[in-house]
Amino acid sequence: MHERIIILDFGSQYTQLIARRIREAGVYSEIYPCTVDPEEIRAIGPKGLILSGGPCSVYDEGAPQLAPEFLEMRQSDGSPVPVLGICYGLQAMARTLGGVVERASRREFGRARIEVTENGSSKLFEGVPASLNVWMSHGDHVTRLPEGFEIIARTENAPFAAARDVTGLRYGVQFHPEVVHTEFGRQVLENFALKICGCRGDWTPASFIEEKIREVRETVGDEHVILGLSGGVDSSVAAVLLHEALGDQLTCVFVNNGVLRKGEWEQVQQTFRDAFHIRLKAVDASDLFLSRLEGVSDPERKRKIIGNTFVEVFEQATDEAVREIGRKPAFLAQGTLYPDVIESVSFKGPSATIKTHHNVGGLPEKLNFKILEPFRELFKDEVREIGRLLGLPQEIIGRHPFPGPGLAIRVLGPVTRREVDILKEADAIFIEELRKNGLYDEVWQAFAVLLPVQTVGVMGDERTYENVCALRAVTSVDGMTADWAKLPYDFLAHVSNRIVNEIRGINRCVYDISSKPPATIEWE
Ligand code: XMP
Repeated sequence: MHERIIILDFGSQYTQLIARRIREAGVYSEIYPCTVDPEEIRAIGPKGLILSGGPCSVYDEGAPQLAPEFLEMRQSDGSPVPVLGICYGLQAMARTLGGVVERASRREFGRARIEVTENGSSKLFEGVPASLNVWMSHGDHVTRLPEGFEIIARTENAPFAAARDVTGLRYGVQFHPEVVHTEFGRQVLENFALKICGCRGDWTPASFIEEKIREVRETVGDEHVILGLSGGVDSSVAAVLLHEALGDQLTCVFVNNGVLRKGEWEQVQQTFRDAFHIRLKAVDASDLFLSRLEGVSDPERKRKIIGNTFVEVFEQATDEAVREIGRKPAFLAQGTLYPDVIESVSFKGPSATIKTHHNVGGLPEKLNFKILEPFRELFKDEVREIGRLLGLPQEIIGRHPFPGPGLAIRVLGPVTRREVDILKEADAIFIEELRKNGLYDEVWQAFAVLLPVQTVGVMGDERTYENVCALRAVTSVDGMTADWAKLPYDFLAHVSNRIVNEIRGINRCVYDISSKPPATIEWE
C-alpha cells in the first residue's frame, strides 16, 4: 500500500489540481468531500491532510465546517498527521482553532507578491526564493491567528500570506500553490508532502502498472473480462493493461457504428489485433446504425439511437464471445477516470461548476457483470503516461476526444450515408493537415462539421450549389470551457482549398470562432 495524502474538498475548482501536484511529487493522493466522517479518513492512515479552497465565505449559511478531529489525527504508530490549509481550508482551520476570520473590504483576486519571512527555517518554503508571485482568490481573510501560530509569509497589504503553528504540524496558505500562476507552487506542495509529512515519494505510473496488474489478476482469477473498445485513449490503454494482466482472458469488442472517423475501423483492428495480439471481436454494424439514423435530425434522438443500438450489438457480441470461449465473462471493464468518480462525491459549493455528462446509454444492468475499472484512481494525463509505458503508439495516446455518437452529431440536420461519407473525407483532410503542420497536439480537439446549408459557388465555368463545411478547433484543459484555436490563416486557407477542391458536395468552408461558453465544442 502506498503512502497517501488525503485532500478534503471544500468545493474549490482547483481541488483536482492539488491532487495532481501531490501525485507529481510521487505521493498518491485522493480527494474526499469535507463532510466525510473523520473516522473513515483515519482508517485509511494518511501521511498528511490538505484542506482545499472553496467558493463559500465562512459566514455563508451552510458553509462547510472543519471537524476538529481532522486537526488531531494520528497515524497507527501514534505520530501526528500534518495538515495544510489552502485559502478557505486555512480559514476553516483558523476558525476551528479559535482564530478570527473577517470579510475583507475588497476581494483579493489575481497575482500578488509575497515575502517569505521565515525562509529556510520553515520546511514549507525550503528551496523557494524570499520573494515570489502567487495567485490569490479570496473574499475573507484571517485577522487573528489561533494561539500558537506564527506568520511565515506576508504580502504588502495583508497581515499574512502563510502561517504555521509552532509545533510545525499545521500550515496554512492564503494563496493557491496548486495553480500554475503561483511561482514555486509545485515546490511548496512537494515540501509539504515530502519534508513535512515525510513521504517517500515512490508512487509513479510505472509502479501503478505493476500493482494494477497484480490486483487485476487477483480480482479476476480465472474468469473472463469483456471490454468495449472505442479506439479512444481510455479504453485503448485499459485494453493493453488488462491484456498484459490477463492475456486471452480478455475479449475486446469494437463496434463499427458507421459514424467513426475515416480509417478508424481499420486502424483500431490493426493496432489491437495485429500489433498487440489482443482477442478482438470487431463487429461491423455500420449498416444497422446508418439505416436507423437515416433522416433523423434531432440530436438527442441521434444519441439515443446510437446508444441503444450499441447496447444491442454489444449484447450480441457478448453472446458470440460466450460461445467461443465457452463461458460467460464475469467482468465488464470500463475506462472510468478519477474525475468522473470525484464528480459524484465532491462537495458542491453554491457556485461550483455544473458539468453535464454525455455518456451514451450505459450497458444495462441486466447483463449482470461485475464491473472492473482499472483507472478509477487516475487522471487523464496519468492514463496517457501509462499507455506510453505500455507501448501504445503516440497516435492513439495523443488522440483528440471523439464523441460516442461520432459523426452523426456533426452532420447537422438529417443524417444520410452520403453526407456521412462527405464529412468523413473533409474531417480526414483537416486532421491530416493539422498533423502534417505540427498543429495537431496544439489543440484539444479539431473536426469538421457538415452544415445542412447550401450556397452558390463557381468551379471552372460551372455554377455549383453545395454544402458548407465548418471547421472547428479549440484549445481547452478539460473540455468544460474552451477557446477557439488561433490557427494560422495560411493553414486554414490551405485546408479550405483542399476540402473544396477535393470533395464533391462541399463548395465553401467557414471557421468557427466561438468559445465555450456560450457556445459548446460540438455543434449538436
Ligand atoms: P460540448 O459540445 O458539450 O462537448 O462542449 C464537450 C466534450 O464532450 C464531447 N461530447 C460528447 N461525448 N457523447 C460523448 O461521448 C456525446 O454525446 C457528446 N457530446 C459532446 C465533445 O466532443 C467534447 O469533447
